[in-house]
Formats: sequence, C-alpha cells, structure tokens
Amino acid sequence: MKRKIFIGIAVVLVVIQFFRIDKSEPESSPEADILLVESVPSDIGIILKTSCYDCHSNKTIYPWYSNVAPVSWWLKSHVNEGRKELNFSEWSTYSDRRKDHKLEEINELVSEDEMPLASYLWVHGEARLSNEEKDQLINWVNTLRKGEKIENK
Ligand code: HEC
Repeated sequence: MKRKIFIGIAVVLVVIQFFRIDKSEPESSPEADILLVESVPSDIGIILKTSCYDCHSNKTIYPWYSNVAPVSWWLKSHVNEGRKELNFSEWSTYSDRRKDHKLEEINELVSEDEMPLASYLWVHGEARLSNEEKDQLINWVNTLRKGEKIENK
C-alpha cells in the first residue's frame, strides 16, 4: 500500500513537469520603461532592478526552479499579478493620475515592508532593502510625485 502511494506521488510529480510556464517576454516598447521616462538616479535604478523588476517589469529573470512545477506555477502567478498591478516596463502608457497613484502605493508598501514580497526575499537576499535604501526610494518617489503635480497644473 505504502509503495503504491509513493509511486502515485512520483507519477504526479513527473506528469506536472509537462505543464511549463510561459517565460516569453511580453511586448512593450523599450522607451516606455520608467528608467527612460523619468529621471532616475543610478542608485535608484539599481534598487528597482534588483528588488522589483522580476515581478514588476517585462524583464523578469527566471531562476532555475522556475523549471520545477508546482513552484514554477506559484512563481508565475506572482509575476503575472505583479505586472498587472505595476509594470515599470510600461510606465509611459500610464495616465498621470495612475502614475501618481502607483508612486503613492510604492511609498506606502515599501515603508510598511510589504514590498518586495517576503517569499521573494527568502531566496533573493540581495533584494532586501536596507533602511537607507528604503529612505532613498521613498524620497525619490516623493520628489517625482511633486514634479508630476506641478506638470499637471
Ligand atoms: C516576488 C514578486 C514581487 C516583487 C519582487 C515585488 N513585488 Fe510588488 N507586488 C507583487 C504582487 C504579486 C503584487 C500584487 C498583490 C499584492 O499587492 O500583494 C504587488 C503589488 C505591488 C504594488 C501595489 C500596486 C497597486 O496599485 O496596488 C506596489 C506599489 C508594489 N508592488 C511595489 C513594489 C516595489 C517598489 C518593489 C521593489 C522594491 C516590489 N513591489 C517588488 C509582487 C512583487
């Protein structure tokens, strides 16, 4: 009996490996990226790329375990949802109002340590933000928001 259960689980694990995730890069104009649209100091650019771009851009770098179901499905759902909420690769397509709202959310979620996602930080230690980096990011976001408001008048 035990042996049958074991074989059953092994078969399921093998079969689900055939359901691979789509890793193709969604199409977007390279000029639409926030790094080209806004004035982004280089240290902020590095923070965004290191800590946010895997889920919030079309430039996801997939780790080896993205080949292993069911972890891959879970990972892909974060990428899909992350891109849907905030896609830095499509920044120029957002309305001024939407941009401002997203910047406000960044301020809020980074201050409250809700982003980057905790599960991501288990495996991406380099993405963890120091207090100094959080301050830098928040200050930058706030400066950008003030700029937006003036432009919109
Ligand atoms: C592992 C994937 C992942 C990483 C890395 C990540 N996010 Fe997210 N982010 C998500 C997901 C999934 C959501 C949507 C669900 C939620 O809010 O929890 C989200 C939502 C958000 C939202 C909310 C947008 C809205 O309008 O509600 C903001 C803002 C955000 N993330 C900012 C960031 C920033 C800034 C970073 C980097 C410092 C970051 N995220 C890193 C996955 C990620």
